[in-house]
Amino acid sequence: MKSITIKKTQSLKGEITVPGDKSISHRAIMLGSIAEGDTTIRGLLKGEDNMATLKAFRQMGVRIDEHENGMVVIQGKGLHGLKEPEDFIDAGNSGTTMRLLTGLLSGQEFFSVLTGDQYLRKRPMKRVVEPLSLMGARIFGRENGNKAPLAIVGSKLKGMTYNSPLASAQVKSAILMAGLYADGGTTVIEPTLSRDHTERMLAYFGAEVKRNGTTVSIKVGQKLVGKEIEVPGDISSAAFFMVAALITEDSELLIKNVGINPARIGIIDILEKMGGQVKILDKREVSGEPVGDILVKSSKLKGIEIKGDIIPRAIDELPVIAVAAAFADGVTEIKDAQELRVKETDRIAAMTSELRGIGVTVSDLPDGMKIEGGKRPIGNDSCTSWGDHRIAMSMIIAGLASERGITISNTDCIDTSFPGFVQILKNLGCRISELQE
Ligand code: S3P
Repeated sequence: MKSITIKKTQSLKGEITVPGDKSISHRAIMLGSIAEGDTTIRGLLKGEDNMATLKAFRQMGVRIDEHENGMVVIQGKGLHGLKEPEDFIDAGNSGTTMRLLTGLLSGQEFFSVLTGDQYLRKRPMKRVVEPLSLMGARIFGRENGNKAPLAIVGSKLKGMTYNSPLASAQVKSAILMAGLYADGGTTVIEPTLSRDHTERMLAYFGAEVKRNGTTVSIKVGQKLVGKEIEVPGDISSAAFFMVAALITEDSELLIKNVGINPARIGIIDILEKMGGQVKILDKREVSGEPVGDILVKSSKLKGIEIKGDIIPRAIDELPVIAVAAAFADGVTEIKDAQELRVKETDRIAAMTSELRGIGVTVSDLPDGMKIEGGKRPIGNDSCTSWGDHRIAMSMIIAGLASERGITISNTDCIDTSFPGFVQILKNLGCRISELQE
């Protein structure tokens, strides 16, 4: 197991890029595999989560070539060209892999089994199993179908209109994936809009997708055609550097080529409301997704209330937003974020405990956190990541602005979403070291 030590850093200056968007990378592999013809992907994230998705499709007979320059070419098999995997599919730590594949596999003409690591096997799957079952899917799992391993007996599916109780892109996307194989149209209605990468990419691959507010529909009998895709940098990864530049003095960072999908940039709205100087420059559209460069400067932050519709638009960034709050003047309250309890780990419990460990006054709420900022955290040489990549990276950012820095254990998980994270910090001049225990 690796641990990381980071010392207080004076200022962060320069231009960086972050690896490809994790959500878009998953979808590019999935849709490329069931499209007709080749799909060429540039900028694909090669983190462990996405490699789990890639391996799953190789197991189902899809040829996927990884070129030395990072380009990935998928020879699509068409909607009905996947073959029965000979062994179980291991989604590793990746909820997106497991939930979206559950939808896609429900409509195949074969049997498959999905499992994952110790963290993923604890996460709720009923949220996809239940609606998919309404479509005729036959899915079996521990705890009455709520926990992996999940065994899926491919079935004839029928379309439906589903009123989702959750603003969850994983739920919506699982149903849309199944909808590609269903008789009749499939519609998902969300309480508020979650990230819409699946809808965008389905349309980009030529499917007829109808959207109206928080309602999305696909008709039966879609054909997907292979495309060239350029994956933008992941705003969820950029988020760590945005907060880092805001809370260190005399910093100015330009993060180039980042996805700025409106359903993902809640972090920018939140940081601006806290008084952060964050600007999006050179807005453009690439492969059906909005992209821009993000300029961030050191700022005096103030505490705010974060709740309601913004939560799904910033869900993965809330741990690092909690770090920003610890360095802001006044109190920040995060509410309506009970989803954080069922992410890679219970992120409310994890951030409350780790921030407290470095000297921040913080209390946990059933659906969020209350963080009292205003005094510089001391640091701690015995932080832990809870096995969660976003907790690890959030605490490393907290460490670089804390009085004595931090040491954090169990940091291998960073590679699930952000290989190269430590190297970028080194390139920016941070005093950071890794120790293999
Ligand atoms: C994701 C959706 C989000 C997010 C996760 C990735 C996706 O989860 O937290 O990291 O790629 O669809 P939910 O849709 O369950 O909120």
